Amino acid sequence: MDIFDKCMNFTRAKEAMEQGIYPYFKPIRDNNGPRVVMDGREIIMVGSNNYLGLTKDPRVQEAAIKAIEKYGTSCSGSRFLNGTLELHEELEDRLAKFVRKEAALSFSTGYQSNLGAISTIVTKEDLILTDKTNHASIFDGIFLSAGIHMGANVKRYKHNDMDDLERILAKLDPEQSKMIITDGVFSMEGDLVNLPRLAELAKKYKARIYLDDAHGLGVEGKTGRGTQEHFNIWDQVDLVMCTFSKSFASLGGFIAGKSEVIHYIKHFSRPLIFSASIPPANIAAVLKSLEIIESEPHIVHRLQETGKKMIREFQSMGFNTGESETPIVPIIIGGDEKTFKFWLNLFQEGVYANPVISPAVPPDRALIRTSYMATHQDNDLDVVLDIFKRIGKKMDLI
Ligand SMILES: Cc1ncc(COP(=O)(O)O)c(C=O)c1O
Repeated sequence: MDIFDKCMNFTRAKEAMEQGIYPYFKPIRDNNGPRVVMDGREIIMVGSNNYLGLTKDPRVQEAAIKAIEKYGTSCSGSRFLNGTLELHEELEDRLAKFVRKEAALSFSTGYQSNLGAISTIVTKEDLILTDKTNHASIFDGIFLSAGIHMGANVKRYKHNDMDDLERILAKLDPEQSKMIITDGVFSMEGDLVNLPRLAELAKKYKARIYLDDAHGLGVEGKTGRGTQEHFNIWDQVDLVMCTFSKSFASLGGFIAGKSEVIHYIKHFSRPLIFSASIPPANIAAVLKSLEIIESEPHIVHRLQETGKKMIREFQSMGFNTGESETPIVPIIIGGDEKTFKFWLNLFQEGVYANPVISPAVPPDRALIRTSYMATHQDNDLDVVLDIFKRIGKKMDLI
């Protein structure tokens, strides 16, 4: 046996490539937001998380360029030592206010934010209750926690099923320290957590709430403050996490909550302490995006309206869009092969969306994940709808 045997024996992806149906790692040559160039052709992009379309906003680009001119291209170290700029602190103060928490702490990716916060807060003595379909970075945060603290107690409840969550909570020792972790907007199917009921249960059973709002901030709520704002539930959410790689047009992420909790994470989080901080251009891009979100809520409203329109139109054609109420609109197909075929047809017709199969979704729920930007033009959206309709009919899905 050789340690690389598994690599030599991995042929599935190569077979798909040979058949011309491999949909992953497709390089983009030009990127104008809603339209990109791939395989030498202009393609309508409905598979990006650039929800507000700010990655190509000249104000955001200029802020990033200015930050490079002032601070250079890297911070060359961890926040803990030489890698903290005044810009990081300014951003954290503003983000904390934006999500109405006492303090915030930034990490170099959204993934690391979950890894860093969860693995620091959750020890062997604590219990985590997690939605089964939460993002992989939440589960990896729990794994890291188990590694660091020599074990972690985890219970997974059925997706957004508050009765199942209560069934588990009711059996626990009332004195057990515990935290419920949930996505705000579920990343694959675009449905919203039942936060009102979850908050009731957390109160009844004395559990803390950790909300991953990667797809909520800039997207949900009247002013883009996310899932908390959508439901008008703020104080009961103890920790809010978000990434900068979606609405904030950058790279990085943060966790926000009570100042003592953030202070503790700052001093014990391995993914924070042992990794370099967010580069200046990326922080400046987030700061500018935040300013735009705060001063131009109509962009957020446009995104919300686009999401609603696409759900309405897909449903009226007969597609299954699950429980989505957001600009993430899944087209649930069922089997993997059919999903890949659908994806290939879409791509050949000039539309890029994401094919999603197990384990990212349950095995019988493979889907095409579409997601929209505030900057999509109506005529592009209509072209997308027409193409979906044609392919849906051809493949007997509608
Ligand atoms: C719900 C959720 N949490 C965390 C992350 C990780 O964020 P990032 O990709 O910015 O590291 C993602 C990204 O896909 C996500 O969807």
